[in-house]
Amino acid sequence: MDSLQRTDLFDLVIRGGKLVTATRTYHSDIGIRGEKIAAIGPDLEGARVVEARGLLILPGAIDPHVHLEMPVGETHSSDDWFTGTRAAACGGTTTVIDFVEPGLGEGLEHALAKRRERGQGRAAVDFGLHMTLVNDKAETLQEVPGLLEEGCTSFKTYLTYEGFRLSDSAFLHVLCVVKEAGGTLLVHAENDTIIAHLQRRFRAEKKTAPKYHALSRPPIAEAEAIQRSLALAEVTGARLYVVHISTALGADALHSARQRGVNASGETCPQYLLLTDKELSRPGFAGAKYVCSPPLRSLMDNERLWKGLADDDLQTVGTDHCPFNYKGQKDLGRDNYEKIPSGLPGIESRLSLLYQYGVRMGRLSLERWVEVCSTNPAKIFGLYPRKGSLEPGADADMVLFDPNKKVTLSRSLLHEQVDYTPYKGFELQGYPVMTFLRGKLIVKNGEFTGAAGDGKYLVRGCSG
Ligand code: URP
Ligand code: ZN
Ligand code: ZN
Repeated sequence: MDSLQRTDLFDLVIRGGKLVTATRTYHSDIGIRGEKIAAIGPDLEGARVVEARGLLILPGAIDPHVHLEMPVGETHSSDDWFTGTRAAACGGTTTVIDFVEPGLGEGLEHALAKRRERGQGRAAVDFGLHMTLVNDKAETLQEVPGLLEEGCTSFKTYLTYEGFRLSDSAFLHVLCVVKEAGGTLLVHAENDTIIAHLQRRFRAEKKTAPKYHALSRPPIAEAEAIQRSLALAEVTGARLYVVHISTALGADALHSARQRGVNASGETCPQYLLLTDKELSRPGFAGAKYVCSPPLRSLMDNERLWKGLADDDLQTVGTDHCPFNYKGQKDLGRDNYEKIPSGLPGIESRLSLLYQYGVRMGRLSLERWVEVCSTNPAKIFGLYPRKGSLEPGADADMVLFDPNKKVTLSRSLLHEQVDYTPYKGFELQGYPVMTFLRGKLIVKNGEFTGAAGDGKYLVRGCSG
């Protein structure tokens, strides 16, 4: 009896909480041994016990789209590997996937090793890396199969931005190569010709204010590029993931393609669900705080995206966290919106914003909330069931979420290293109170208790 008791004693037990997964919500204890969930069931005993009555317990959230210390023009995004992942942890995110951007002429494997090294020792949560492909040269693409062996199984492409964009034929070629290797292709879909045309027109008309950023990238520029990339994916049979979908037209295009059986999935972001292009016309230069690409859209687009999330037209919510300080960075474009560094902060508030405006407002079920913020990113990016699930054998990445905790979002509440939040004044009921990374408590009541280097590079498999 004595030996049986000792065997059954877990290192840690989370007792009496309400577990929420992508498929069900139920009361149970969770027993953790080392870094893993070892048991789910009633009356578990642990060397340490955390009482979770009244709290929701979710698999750690996964943010499939972040840009930490990313170089942009003369500057770089203001959160570094440590500050950005610390903020992620405080918001209930235990895995992020960032990007590798190889330098001119640099080999992909070399760039991956460098970026991995940079995150290792600094990251406070686990991290994966997508590889950016900016050309379809044989010497570049021959490295793709080797990258999959290193756990870098997804590849990012752009259809706009000087120095990054691929022509249609290069994009098609890359789709074929990535498909052959078993990987997933990500696409930033905006029509470059439309954008360049409108930018030229606004330049000639001396229209330089932040709102022209949005006007130069109209909804049809996104919709056309999404439609085109889906058509090319359809022809090749490759697996495509459309990042940061901002428009109703884009969601419609993805819906139709999926109906036809195209192997595609899509992401939207809190900013496209909750903010509109009106923000860009704030007095003075304050609209610059809301400059991101694709730009913010209309209330009608917001609502279509919410519906798309609920109906599985869209599968994930990422943040596209790419913060720039208003003072000293966004203001590089004071005289010309084209020079405003593009991107918004948001790594910390995704889970609670989606709870308030999704679950509380009746747009998403509890299970769908967990699915789009954790389980689907894990499945699409080759991390499931190690991440994104609450099952024995999974990493003990867990968020204890108080559905009644009230907070008003502000710069001072958040841990992001940036001088503003676009969600200032948003009132939330429901907030994470504890975050565990592989069994270690890394956030308690808004206080970070982890350390730089707690996060490990994830060798990812291929999409489920
Ligand atoms: O404006 C944005 N979204 N900046 C980050 C880079 C990108 O295009 O995703
Ligand atoms: Zn993008
Ligand atoms: Zn991005």
